[in-house]
Amino acid sequence: MVPLEDEVGDIIRKARTGLGLTTGQTAERAGMPVSVLEEIELCSHTLSQEEAGSLAKVLSLNSAKLYESVMGLWHPEEPSPDALSDVVIIEGSIGAYKVNGYILIDKASGEAAAFDTANDSKKVLDALQEKGVRLKYLFLTHCHTDHTGGLEGIFKATEAGIGIPEGEASIGFGKEIPRGVFYVKDDSEFSLGQKKIRSVVIAGHTQGSTCYMTRNYCFSGDTLFAGSVGRAYSPEAYRDLLHSLQTRILALNEGVYIFPGHGPVTTVGEEIRHNPFF
Ligand SMILES: [Fe+2]
Repeated sequence: MVPLEDEVGDIIRKARTGLGLTTGQTAERAGMPVSVLEEIELCSHTLSQEEAGSLAKVLSLNSAKLYESVMGLWHPEEPSPDALSDVVIIEGSIGAYKVNGYILIDKASGEAAAFDTANDSKKVLDALQEKGVRLKYLFLTHCHTDHTGGLEGIFKATEAGIGIPEGEASIGFGKEIPRGVFYVKDDSEFSLGQKKIRSVVIAGHTQGSTCYMTRNYCFSGDTLFAGSVGRAYSPEAYRDLLHSLQTRILALNEGVYIFPGHGPVTTVGEEIRHNPFF
């Protein structure tokens, strides 16, 4: 079982910094010593139900769902292999830190699209070879290096178009954009055989963070994790992130599978019922 990306301490810290609060302000409003809050954020203090309730109130989290995380009562149900037969999960790592990339396959046309690199071009290229498919697109969800590591290797070894979110300036191609690289705008559509892939910009973790949707899948990068969200870069970004996730992702059919950049696969329904940020 793939562990959840965030522990309760991470959830509390993301919500606190997302709201622009210091540990002192948060502890005072929640009626607890700062030292206890600091321990909670370091995951070295297990919250009581009462502490979870008061922190949830101060941080606008859902207290029942937060306490469920404290008790470790929830993990998204493992999808059946049949349900995801056209997706390959590439689990890469940077030391002990895990990062996910994904390959979506259209069996009829033999075309594939990758979402991020999993920081491991070899694993991606090996999977393409094993499945006997041609990489038509490599879409980046955002340009943090754990998601783009190995990009050059994939770029050189395939003829894939490399789709980079328009709002991500950090990839650093300079003035001259290499052949095959294109920028992805919000609500653009791409074809993979009979499948359609649509881009949905969910800014907040980074300015251009983009999810890629098919009829029943969402490749979410670092916007939404099972039971948590990506770290926002400012309080405005945090507000936008939660709003966009609520209105554009959690409003989808509950059966839509979500494939995050870190942690296990989940569904819209699981996140509606268990994610303490909503
Ligand atoms: Fe990231």
